[in-house]
Amino acid sequence: MAMWGGRFQEATLEEFRQFNDSLSFDYLLALQDIQASRAWAKQLAAATIITADEAEQLDTALAQLAQAVAENPKLPLQTADEDIHSWVESQLTQQLGAVAKKLHTGRSRNDLVATDLRLWTKLNAESVKQALLAAIQALLVFAEQAGTDVMPGYTHLQRAQPVLVAHWALAYVEMFRRDLSRIEDALVRMDSCPLGCGALAGTGIAIDRQALAESLGFAHAARNSLDAVSDRDYVVELSAAGSMCMTHLSRLAEDVIFFCSGEAGFFKLGDAISSGSSLMPQKKNPDVFELLRGKTGRVLGHLVAIIHTLKGLPLAYNKDMQEDKQGFFDLIQTWQQSLLVLATVLPHLSVNSAKCRQAAELGYSNATDLADYLVSKGMPFRDAHEVVGELVVVASVQQVALEAMPLATLQQYSALIADDVFAALQLEAGLEKRSALAGTAPKRVLSALAEAKAWFEQQ
Ligand code: ARG
Repeated sequence: MAMWGGRFQEATLEEFRQFNDSLSFDYLLALQDIQASRAWAKQLAAATIITADEAEQLDTALAQLAQAVAENPKLPLQTADEDIHSWVESQLTQQLGAVAKKLHTGRSRNDLVATDLRLWTKLNAESVKQALLAAIQALLVFAEQAGTDVMPGYTHLQRAQPVLVAHWALAYVEMFRRDLSRIEDALVRMDSCPLGCGALAGTGIAIDRQALAESLGFAHAARNSLDAVSDRDYVVELSAAGSMCMTHLSRLAEDVIFFCSGEAGFFKLGDAISSGSSLMPQKKNPDVFELLRGKTGRVLGHLVAIIHTLKGLPLAYNKDMQEDKQGFFDLIQTWQQSLLVLATVLPHLSVNSAKCRQAAELGYSNATDLADYLVSKGMPFRDAHEVVGELVVVASVQQVALEAMPLATLQQYSALIADDVFAALQLEAGLEKRSALAGTAPKRVLSALAEAKAWFEQQ
């Protein structure tokens, strides 16, 4: 039965009911609605609106209901109630009769749903954090196992300079660390309790709102009732953090897909995480990484949807806000699942060290090192850049590497070039030079890995 039948004389149109009802998706908030209701019943007793005995009856029945939901999360779907708040109240009424009807005193579904969703969001943000940490850990293991393997680094998807495979993995660790701090940051701001703000103007009951907030695990009570019932910033903030994180996942996936291609061949997917083609027997496809990339689009879509829903809403609560849930639930679920999948599949990804190294040596990726060599001999960098550019043209016409050119030929372009140039053109020499903070020198990468591992241990 609806919670608001009194002033209505006509029956509800079925089509409207179906459009309006939210139980089919807000049933996911059942445990939070029960949690908020238990806290509210205690405060009603403290404010002497209900007796201690009535509060006790409500609390016991609510605890039993929570137990039933924990055992069967889809339980509410077996009824035709309008939303999860109506469901909890109607279950209580069936159990307790008149006492149950006192629970809604001084509260509204507006402050209730705002509280339920915040509780749900806080809880699920913690689960996403754990999934993110699992992904980070898998990347750290991958980096560790890659050791000093070297691969081409790209800009514009053109071979640029060699980098350590571990350096590549640690780049994504950096991104995920920022994502983690974005979640933590959002958690601080969402730690404010709307319950006891009524429909919009505050509750008419002398509730100790700080005590109520703390009993629900919030740091503090919301300061303004109009804002509290209609604030969904936390949904947007976490959706934005999710969108950023999925964007990182998507870029990682794109890198891996390319690295696993026949053209690159740097990484190899294990059979356990690959799929085949129904037609082409030779195929081994990186579906899992394509899905990670693909799911990013849907997460970004949910962010765009919620922010557009909120834009232009007058204060305070409007039914538009019911649209805050489905996309958001899907976003959180997709985000968490994607991170856990990454953590699961990374150990099945192996590096083809020889292929990586071979590719890192191609494409004149030591041209910058030759310019730096000339600089070390006293030539201004601009001039060195010019000279090496000319040499690259000559070498590529002859289809040889810079280090394969005879010393005499090199010297025709600059008399500063001596026999020690060949050591400077070695892959290892180029890597080792990049030893300043954030560089790809093996020693530097090793200490970056140690720092990241130490940080991880602190989490
Ligand atoms: N199902 C509603 C929602 O999700 C609950 C709040 C309803 N409030 C109201 N005044 N109709 O937003």
